[in-house]
Amino acid sequence: MRDITLENLTRVAAQTFAGGGDARREQLSAALVNHLHAFAREVQLSHEEWQQAIAFLHRCGDISGPERSEFTLLSDVLGLSSLVDLMQSRPGATPGSVLGPFHTAGSPWRDNPVNLIGQNEGERVWLRGRVLNTQGQPLSQAVLDVWQNAANGQYWQMDPSQPEDNLRCQLRVDAQGGYAIATIRPMPYCIPTDGPVWKDLVEPAGRSAWRPAHFHVIVQAPGYRTLITEVFDESDPYLDSDAVFGVREALIGRYEDVDDAQAAQALGVAGATCRVMHMDFVLADA
Ligand code: BEZ
Ligand code: FE
Repeated sequence: MRDITLENLTRVAAQTFAGGGDARREQLSAALVNHLHAFAREVQLSHEEWQQAIAFLHRCGDISGPERSEFTLLSDVLGLSSLVDLMQSRPGATPGSVLGPFHTAGSPWRDNPVNLIGQNEGERVWLRGRVLNTQGQPLSQAVLDVWQNAANGQYWQMDPSQPEDNLRCQLRVDAQGGYAIATIRPMPYCIPTDGPVWKDLVEPAGRSAWRPAHFHVIVQAPGYRTLITEVFDESDPYLDSDAVFGVREALIGRYEDVDDAQAAQALGVAGATCRVMHMDFVLADA
């Protein structure tokens, strides 16, 4: 094409991605061109704005590395991560929610019920429930990978004062699909504010950096879709303003005072009364 015009450019550029034999790649590339061009046309993007956007992406790349992805954070604050999570969630199953940057593979396996409290300060709570399929049957083969922050709001990877693997574990549910974790109450905390996503995009919009307190959980069972999700607390002040749009009604639990001496003994915690949050996870068929 030797006469590229404002009228034909988008179609011509999108068509260059046809062929190659991978239909999905073709679809993704052509749609990317179409939507990017539609955006630029809608806002009548200027040269100066285009240059600023490119410089912003450079800054995101400069601060990223094996331990940190500013691009993932960008996806999170734009709601793209949550959009993908919600589109991949299935009716009747527990909805997905953001993975976040603090999941590290290889969490230590612990026996269920598990006590993660160790030397941690903070309010002692239990998280417990069952893993079920959408017919309500317990999935006795399910495994959980759980992680959370400490009383100072930090995850162990970012905080030299915490022992390695603090407040995280993998565990197998029992024959009834049940799990129980004695731990401390997670704390609300802020998304990273030292990079371009916060400084150039989120803060100028007057948005909040806070995330409501949450447990992160990955639930897996053979023959079922893996669930990556979070569990929130109904009394959290940031539920309505999560910086990364992770809150879903079905993921909000409530701490209740429970007297359960038998469970307390199994968890190795002193006293029979505890603040307990009950949360079942429902997996969709693979
Ligand atoms: C988190 O849940 O840990 C998190 C998620 C998105 C951005 C930053 C932190
Ligand atoms: Fe988190």
